[in-house]
Amino acid sequence: MQTAPLSFAPFNALADADCQERIRAARAKLGKKAVILCHHYQRADVYQHADLTGDSLKLSKLAAQTDSEYVVFCGVHFMAEVADIMTAPHQIAILPDLAAGCSMADMANLAKVERCWRELGEVLDVEAEVTPVTYINSAADLKAFCGEHGGIVCTSSNAGTIAQWAFAQRPKVLFFPDQHLGRWTGHQMGFPLDDIVVWDPDLEMGGLTAEQIKQAKILLWKGHCSVHQMFQKSHIDTFRAKHPDGQVISHPECNFAVCAASDYVGSTEHIVKTIKEAPAGTRWLVGTELNLVDRLAREVLPQDKIVQFMATTICMCSTMQRIDPQHLAWTLENLADGKVVNPIQVPAHEARLAKLALDRMLAIS
Ligand code: 13P
Ligand code: SF4
Repeated sequence: MQTAPLSFAPFNALADADCQERIRAARAKLGKKAVILCHHYQRADVYQHADLTGDSLKLSKLAAQTDSEYVVFCGVHFMAEVADIMTAPHQIAILPDLAAGCSMADMANLAKVERCWRELGEVLDVEAEVTPVTYINSAADLKAFCGEHGGIVCTSSNAGTIAQWAFAQRPKVLFFPDQHLGRWTGHQMGFPLDDIVVWDPDLEMGGLTAEQIKQAKILLWKGHCSVHQMFQKSHIDTFRAKHPDGQVISHPECNFAVCAASDYVGSTEHIVKTIKEAPAGTRWLVGTELNLVDRLAREVLPQDKIVQFMATTICMCSTMQRIDPQHLAWTLENLADGKVVNPIQVPAHEARLAKLALDRMLAIS
């Protein structure tokens, strides 16, 4: 007789050390049936259990390649949705805590994007003139919207290539939900900032005039990351004054002034790779989430490399932080007992259209 899944309450009271032991025991029982994917921002006490790690692009490719029955995603909700979309129907994507969302992804929703599309349609022939591009940090129904309207998904590591593809289809791009990644990408492609306008979803016609919409090449959704907004150019100025030989690397979710003042701008995977491959004795200021920066600082210290966090306040991805050893132990013990908790299942019609937009991205990146 099938019994109910173990409830989370007793796990919540478990000490971290006990959790670690129980995670290891459950994993040993599961063997190859389960694979644990971890984003670079994951906390150290969970990251140590990862089979595979990476940025959003790498993790979406790895999810598509795994043949494990259970794909346990230690990341945020949109990442687990991508894993569900990219895996075969018999595979199950699992998010150990359903409250692990992405505040940036939540800044755009289907109703608002559809309203934007309708309002742009009053001024433009949208299906002929605008390619919708969604950052992977978005809900599956927005990826489906892009799939349906000739658009595409991008990540922080392929945004330039994807934008080129988008402009090869139609003369304008609607980019959501991260205005900073969109602006930096447009700038890198050579567009003057005057060609880039911000669509405010809470205002009629995005707060723009018909003329502004007609003139614009790139329409950016008014969204941002609550973590990366904390990094300021003044942090870079202070660092450079103190360490003229130091180098600065930032994630493209940082604001334009921060990206422009950095020596390198790139995805989490790019940041990790660049610093790991840098010569011994170098010093770095890093503009991205604290768990990644702390781990990297510890890893490269033996090579005499100094890695410093950009902000003066603690900025962590508090939602990703919700995936803790307690939730991981609870998830794995249930799986080892044949019970699936917190499966992420994108409805079939949405998954089909979202996959179209994801496959377009993977085909060119
Ligand atoms: P990456 O794709 O660079 O890992 O970025 C994901 C993310 O959410 C950064 O905030
Ligand atoms: Fe979302 Fe920002 Fe967290 Fe990345 S760091 S997952 S963009 S809230």
